[in-house]
Amino acid sequence: MTSPKFITFEGIDGSGKSTQSRLFADRLRAQGRDVILTREPGGSPGAEEIRQLLLTGDTDRWSAETEILLFTAARRDHLEKTIQPALAAGKTVICDRFADSTRVYQGATRGDLRAMVDSLHTLMIGREPDLTFIIDMDPAMALERGLARKSGEDRFEDFGLGFQETLRHGFLALAHVQPDRCVLVDGNRTPDQIASEIAAHL
Ligand code: ADP
Ligand code: TYD
Repeated sequence: MTSPKFITFEGIDGSGKSTQSRLFADRLRAQGRDVILTREPGGSPGAEEIRQLLLTGDTDRWSAETEILLFTAARRDHLEKTIQPALAAGKTVICDRFADSTRVYQGATRGDLRAMVDSLHTLMIGREPDLTFIIDMDPAMALERGLARKSGEDRFEDFGLGFQETLRHGFLALAHVQPDRCVLVDGNRTPDQIASEIAAHL
């Protein structure tokens, strides 16, 4: 089997994705792999500008439908400017969130908009990761961790605990229907324990 080149981390807010993607990138680099670590929304100058629009302000600043368009626009720019060039150069790309976040956050929280998310993904993105780690953890604890950071980018945390619980179910359902691509990881452990389990998958 060829080693995965495009690897994503997914999960609810505060579940430890950024921590684990960083540890994983460090580990692969130590093995001599040429790795870029990137994130969504963002990862290219244009997408980082769209990030600001999406993650700040009131919860009702955008409808879920408008969010789908903005996240997809950011992703398209990220793909064109950062992800595709890196993969073409033979690098490994580790990305903190990707299309699964849109499937869950926009597709399954404020009505069933999954068909709309999938259509736009097919039309504009058309690419899945080779491997996705979904970090699962208790939404109350994750929300506490996320808000404690005081990042000023809390628009989605501000939807509250019920929203995070819906997201958790959405991610568990994704892992269930796509077992070949998605690996479910228990996030209720120390960062090192989680990192060792993730590393063991490669
Ligand atoms: P995410 O990217 O999913 O929002 P982060 O990696 O930024 O999550 O982690 C959120 C907060 O929780 C950070 O302050 C981080 O240091 C802390 N954290 C991450 N992983 C763990 C863990 N396994 N146990 C305890 N705290 C953690
Ligand atoms: P991020 O910094 O990843 O959040 P956290 O560290 O709290 O996990 O910020 C991204 C936010 O945007 C997060 O709340 C999830 C949301 N999001 C979507 O709603 N849809 C998407 O397609 C993506 C990529 C992110």
